Amino acid sequence: MTRDYLAEYDAASEAEQFPLVKQWMATEPLTFFAQLRRERPVLVTPECTLLSRFTDIRDALQMPRIFTVALYRSKMGVTDDDPGFMMAHDDNPLHERERAIMLGFLNRDDVPRIRELVAQAARDRLQAGAGSMEMIRHYSRIVPTVLVRDYFGLDGVATDKLLDWSYWNQYNTFHNQPFNLHAPEKSQYIAEQQDRCVQEMQRYIKALLVRKLISVNTRERLIRTPLAAFNRLRRGLGFAPIRLRDDIVQRMLLTCFAENVDFPLERLGANIGGLLVGTVETTSQAVAQTVRFFLEQPDLLAQARQAAASPDPEHFDAMVWEALRFVPISPFLFRQLSQEYTIARGTDRQTTIPKGTNVLMLTQSAMFDDYCHLNPEQFIPQRNWYHHFNFGFASHDCIGKHIGRVMIPEMVRQVMRLDGLRATSAMDYQDGPFPETYHLQWTP
Ligand code: HEM
Repeated sequence: MTRDYLAEYDAASEAEQFPLVKQWMATEPLTFFAQLRRERPVLVTPECTLLSRFTDIRDALQMPRIFTVALYRSKMGVTDDDPGFMMAHDDNPLHERERAIMLGFLNRDDVPRIRELVAQAARDRLQAGAGSMEMIRHYSRIVPTVLVRDYFGLDGVATDKLLDWSYWNQYNTFHNQPFNLHAPEKSQYIAEQQDRCVQEMQRYIKALLVRKLISVNTRERLIRTPLAAFNRLRRGLGFAPIRLRDDIVQRMLLTCFAENVDFPLERLGANIGGLLVGTVETTSQAVAQTVRFFLEQPDLLAQARQAAASPDPEHFDAMVWEALRFVPISPFLFRQLSQEYTIARGTDRQTTIPKGTNVLMLTQSAMFDDYCHLNPEQFIPQRNWYHHFNFGFASHDCIGKHIGRVMIPEMVRQVMRLDGLRATSAMDYQDGPFPETYHLQWTP
């Protein structure tokens, strides 16, 4: 018989109610969410309101001015004089402009090159492990930093710094909110770490821009004109043009925007920071949790290893995305209401929520709602990608999703190819939000 979470919730004191919800979301989300969807799809707790049905979540995420990202603002540098990072803005010119520009730079045609880069970096790390590895420090966090350095172009800095900056920015923004219920000293410590990282990161990005501006201009002057002439000749002979290898920072510096586009150098710097922060811990957590998910289920592990051996990654990728429905990097996205709003008007779950309420949209629950998936409790790869929420949804959905969509499965695939693969420790989160250690062994 499954547990009656709502009976326990109703019997608890007001002070105990949200801590119980938090614990169930972390330890037994699927059965808890199933009961919510069935019996109380809009759960109003003393701390925040939870939405668990697919349609309510999709609806709310499509109204960014009502369900806002106000909780990101102070964490993403928004002040009276500084707009901070574009992600902390809702449905306004700055968000729309910078999102569109960044999507252009992250040219989706690069995806095959990204998969190759990631596969090579992953193989190098595993080879260096020679049969055993603590995979968080030495693999799931490190491989994305290779992408950050070689594809995004954040080079000339120690890897440990990239890790530190990404870690504390992610921690303070996404895991240091009122509903995380940290003690005030812990909350302040996390915020101070982020402040330190932001200052270091800003200094580094300024120096990076100066250095790359000089090298990009020199390269342009010396190579572009002769190369253009050579490429005309190649095209005339029916050959593909030669393109210079570049990185995203170089691309940004080479691109001139008319003044009225309003994308000056300082906005470019803000967005470069976002590339790093968005990439490392998210990828690391997704890769680590997927590897553990397969290792803990022998039948699935056998299927995953068989799919990983195929030269065509399509089926393996689909297995990873199906696994991430069960073990997403977060079971929810959070928003704050800018005005009173009535959820699901005209239904028996109609609920009016006051302005200022923090709302947890249980995106993991949405991915198990039979509104969108047949037999959602079963592991069935190749489900409808458009009903997947690991990269968010609607106006704030992840600008790196086409990169993550190959990087994460490719990193898991290289691990699954190791002979005799097994875990020799439990995954340890060390009381924080991210996997910190997980030991693997295999036959070298
Ligand atoms: C690969 C490099 C990545 C980059 C450069 C990146 C960057 C970003 C940026 C800039 C946004 C904000 C978009 C906006 O506000 O319009 C975003 C949103 C998001 N990203 Fe990524 N990201 C990356 C990878 C990932 C990965 C691997 C995951 C999870 C597996 C992820 C999950 C998300 C989610 C859930 C959101 C939506 C947050 C919300 O709606 O509040 N990202 N990402």
